[in-house]
Amino acid sequence: MSRLRVGVLVSGRGSNLQALIEAAKDPLYPARVVMVCANRECPALEIAKKAGISRQVFRLAAFPDRKARDWEMVRKLRQHGVELVVCAGYDAILERAFTREFEGRVINIHPSLLPEFAGTMDAVRMALNAGVAETGCTIHVVTKDVDQGPILAQRRVEVRPDDTVESLRERIQAEEHGLLTEVVRRLAGQPLPLPS
Ligand code: GRF
Repeated sequence: MSRLRVGVLVSGRGSNLQALIEAAKDPLYPARVVMVCANRECPALEIAKKAGISRQVFRLAAFPDRKARDWEMVRKLRQHGVELVVCAGYDAILERAFTREFEGRVINIHPSLLPEFAGTMDAVRMALNAGVAETGCTIHVVTKDVDQGPILAQRRVEVRPDDTVESLRERIQAEEHGLLTEVVRRLAGQPLPLPS
């Protein structure tokens, strides 16, 4: 079985990366992570290291500009034969050059029920402050418009009266892990690029 070659972009904790790595331990899982790119040193890189996955930090300061940084990421991901890119807590906006190169092959996880609380890194806090009864997580195709690409899947999470940002985030993330592995499994079985 040839498995879909996945590149993961990270900036933080890496729990979604970990979920994908765990899923891919099953030889029947149809995808595997072959490269991890980060825009800074972060715990997610340790997860990649432990799993023996190629990883690299693309610090903006090491390049003339964002475009040059993103081109280098494209080059490295291509070198590793990446077919699908997963933004898993990656906190920089991808240059158009990147999304064009991987058109319909980049997905993102966002911790809200898009289109609610789009375009922010603080969607969990915003949901809590807005007093909504439920929020959740969304996986969507990345296009040039931040958080606005076609939605692939969502899961709902109830907001409890005693929730803090941390407790709500924890429950949302637990759903993200299941949703991400499910969506990647599905994408491995269908033709790429996705309509974007
Ligand atoms: C996730 O909650 C995701 O929705 C958001 O960033 C967070 C990343 O978490 N885009 P982790 O690094 O995968 O633990």
